[in-house]
Amino acid sequence: MKKNKIFVACDSTNISKIKKIIEHTSDTKLKIGYKFGLEFLNSKNGRNFISKLKKKIIFVDLKLHDIPNTCVSTIKAIKDLRVNYLTIHISSGLQALKAAKKVSGPIRLVGVSILTSLDNKELKEIGFNKNIKRLVLHQARLAKKAKLDAIVCSAKEVQIVRKVFKKEIITPGIRFHSNNNDQKRVLTPKQALKNGAHSLVIGRNITRGNIKKNIKSLISHLSQ
Ligand code: C5P
Repeated sequence: MKKNKIFVACDSTNISKIKKIIEHTSDTKLKIGYKFGLEFLNSKNGRNFISKLKKKIIFVDLKLHDIPNTCVSTIKAIKDLRVNYLTIHISSGLQALKAAKKVSGPIRLVGVSILTSLDNKELKEIGFNKNIKRLVLHQARLAKKAKLDAIVCSAKEVQIVRKVFKKEIITPGIRFHSNNNDQKRVLTPKQALKNGAHSLVIGRNITRGNIKKNIKSLISHLSQ
């Protein structure tokens, strides 16, 4: 079970809640990392809290989506946090991805493909002509071209992505309890790993309710 990483999405602004998440997930059979998004990083004490975390795998989900210069400046601005992973939307474009990769140093730069909260209907609504699978494959090629260190996609697209992108594949949209919430392209942890995902991002199915109990049910789901 230590082979694959589980990134716990720490989606809250409440420091005590984040401390509880870390405390209740640290000492398990799983290899755990912690993912902090815009919500926590923009909260009053969030950045400072992350700067003090020791011996944890830290994933900063900024989902940069900007011009090359702004992506580069932002990466420079968070370097003091010494995080392990940082996300950028692949749709920022090849120039932005390459520029970001040039300055990211030891941070693993993760390209985000089409969000797991979107389906084909919504993609069309935004104005994309390709379907999700084709678009994700196209973006995986771009991520490879920019020499990104990892890619985020739905577990449903892992097999397609693997054909062209040989590095770490990280999948959110993971559910082992019934409620999909706002996610559209979901699979179970077991299905995601079977498809070849290296790491999983799991938020609410771990952090809502009894965290220890949720971890236990994740471990039992994985060992079945
Ligand atoms: O609670 P849940 O497991 O749905 O949380 C998923 C986490 O992964 C959230 O923090 C969300 O921002 C992030 N994410 C995602 N889909 C992507 C990229 C990141 O759900 N494509």
